[in-house]
Amino acid sequence: MLMTTPMIKPESIHAKFITLEGMDGAGKSTHIPHIIKMLQASEREVVSTREPGGTALGERLRELLLHEPMHPETETLLMFAARREHLAEVIVPALARGAYVLSDRFTDATYAYQCGAKGVLAEKVEALEQWVQATLQPDLTLLFDVPVEVSIQRLSSARLPDKFERESADFFTRIRNAYLQRAQQNPTRFKIIDANQPLAQVAAQVERVVTEFLK
Ligand code: TYD
Repeated sequence: MLMTTPMIKPESIHAKFITLEGMDGAGKSTHIPHIIKMLQASEREVVSTREPGGTALGERLRELLLHEPMHPETETLLMFAARREHLAEVIVPALARGAYVLSDRFTDATYAYQCGAKGVLAEKVEALEQWVQATLQPDLTLLFDVPVEVSIQRLSSARLPDKFERESADFFTRIRNAYLQRAQQNPTRFKIIDANQPLAQVAAQVERVVTEFLK
């Protein structure tokens, strides 16, 4: 097991780290099977994972994070505890093997939810990010963007909401704005998917972006 943090991605191989982000109800999870198929077409190993979670410990922390009320900074620390484990056990070894790693959420979600929506200071998250990830960043981030009303409407017709999904429209607006700001600050890494369209059109946008990325 990795004891220190040499999180530097081996540059000699073409490993790629892809993350999916967006508000609850933006519909990103629907597109995962198709993205996996596209990545598999290259005959490279594909590791599909998620946050919070991705490891046995991470999934136990996810249960707490999604259902237990807690201070926003406790939440942030637990997100990064789960992330540390996820990087050590899953993400870094997979990238070192040359795999494509697809993660349903990563650190941008902490900036959007814990900083943007819940007011945790960005400097604190930056310090944790530096500690846990060093220089490791996703190579591509698909941001599924929808207006807040659409996200709320989709959630209300879905399954039983978790802690985050029961929040107010104002909370969701702060998440959306924080994500869009992250995208603006990292224009090369982020690709915004307009998810306020029929499923087939969203899928076509995703396909275009992934195809372009794999070239
Ligand atoms: P989500 O990825 O939407 O899974 P599901 O589709 O099963 O609901 O749920 C994860 C929740 O965790 C989501 O509401 C966002 C939240 N979250 C944070 O608040 N901070 C983080 O750093 C991460 C990774 C997730």
